Amino acid sequence: MVPQQESFVGSIDQGTTSSRFLIFNKSGEPVASHQIEFKQIYPQPGWHEHDPNEIVQSVEKCIDEAVAQFENQGHSAKSIKAVGITNQRETTVVWDSTTGEPLHNAIVWTDTRSQTLVRKIKQRLGADELQKICGVPLSTYPSVSKLLWLMENVQAVKQCYDKGNLAFGTIDAWLVYKLNGGPKRNIFVSDPSNASRTMFMDLKTLNYSDSLLDFFRLDTSKLKLPKIVQSSDPKAYGTLASTVLSGIAITGCLGDQSAALVGQKGFAPGLAKNTYGTGCFLLMNVGEKPVVSTHGLLTTVAYDFHNMKPNYALEGSIAVAGSSIKFLQNNLEFIESSAQVSQLAETVEDNGGVTFVTAFSGLFAPYWIDDARGTIFGITAYTKKGHIARATLEATCFQTKAILESMGKDSGYDLKELAVDGGMCNSDLTMQTQSDLIGIPVVRPAMRETTALGAAIAAGLAVGVWNSLDDFKDVNSEGKTTFKPKISAEERDGKFAKWEKAVQMCKGWAS
Ligand code: G3P
Repeated sequence: MVPQQESFVGSIDQGTTSSRFLIFNKSGEPVASHQIEFKQIYPQPGWHEHDPNEIVQSVEKCIDEAVAQFENQGHSAKSIKAVGITNQRETTVVWDSTTGEPLHNAIVWTDTRSQTLVRKIKQRLGADELQKICGVPLSTYPSVSKLLWLMENVQAVKQCYDKGNLAFGTIDAWLVYKLNGGPKRNIFVSDPSNASRTMFMDLKTLNYSDSLLDFFRLDTSKLKLPKIVQSSDPKAYGTLASTVLSGIAITGCLGDQSAALVGQKGFAPGLAKNTYGTGCFLLMNVGEKPVVSTHGLLTTVAYDFHNMKPNYALEGSIAVAGSSIKFLQNNLEFIESSAQVSQLAETVEDNGGVTFVTAFSGLFAPYWIDDARGTIFGITAYTKKGHIARATLEATCFQTKAILESMGKDSGYDLKELAVDGGMCNSDLTMQTQSDLIGIPVVRPAMRETTALGAAIAAGLAVGVWNSLDDFKDVNSEGKTTFKPKISAEERDGKFAKWEKAVQMCKGWAS
């Protein structure tokens, strides 16, 4: 007999390399899931695209498959009370609002094609003031650079803008629009944690800023932007139009890194999590007022829930993490699957003097060096694959250390331990290295689907599956693994100094 729990919440997790659908019970445990990888399109070095329609289809298929699994366990699809969405952020989709058809492939957050354009815009008067309003530094990373590139370089996008029909959205807005059936119902919304990645939103008002839109010379009578609504809302996101869950409401939406902070229960100022996904993103809750960084970090919206004040986060974004393991697998063919990387790294005692700055898309926080490119230092006749594997894992850990130093200065909080999740956190070697390098414990939860859980929490709070943040006190609290630092402060400082030297040496390569 399958125990019947009355309420479940579905969670769409639309990431950089795959789409997933998970179903959570009231205790925050996933009971069914399905995942589909989709095509990564690299038309030129530094360019990275997705097919927006393939993304929607992959999500719909995941829903159907996971629900079939759920029903096979004896549950009824009717017990799924709401669906939440979490997604890769910044990735930019443009479509014709009259047809709902995309005008170009989505430009992915890692894409650096707008480098020259961004440099030009940085010369404009007022460019230095933007981050104070929106929290994000002007670079190839936020959506605005991708949108402006499309408007300058793609005829169909230009024409659609001139006709006043150009719709722009991040992946959340695109998914909500399409999953509701497109132009027929025209549900066109985004939540503040996603909208804060565009460079169009004022962090204080959680609304679009005229001064930002004017700075970028965007005419909002011609460009359609999604309405910004709360991250948790019973009505604003509409209902699923197709799939086996047709008619079920979408009631929560969070950018994936904000979702992971929520899923890790980072509800109090000073709590932080680091998610090792395609990239790696460290977010610290800083409370109800945004803190603007002066040390190379971003300010973002952590969540904006029904009947609560919005919470903000400081963020350190690392462009390349899991994707560097994929590089070892697919480009260098050192391993057959990502899971083998630790094994390869463990074939050697240390990195053998090798440092790998994995700056495939330039370096993000806290460095912001857009013309750096991936560089391996210290190769000798002694170097083996294992040394390069170790140096690859260490690269993310070193950047995390650099981010934590900035985080301490910007936030005033002295982090006592770092909660982790995401694919790379399954590697004990990497987590031990991380703890060694930051000098504080690294804590890995037993249930690591924290990003999807965060979106489920947003959706479930809107419909009363859960009533307050207190309901999550016991969720995912058992079975944590803690990695404690094992090296001395001198050793840590020595390793980090070498890393910092390597970072300085790879500047300018792509100029
Ligand atoms: O800002 C980009 C981020 O949202 C992508 O996350 O999990 O695909 O590395 P992930």
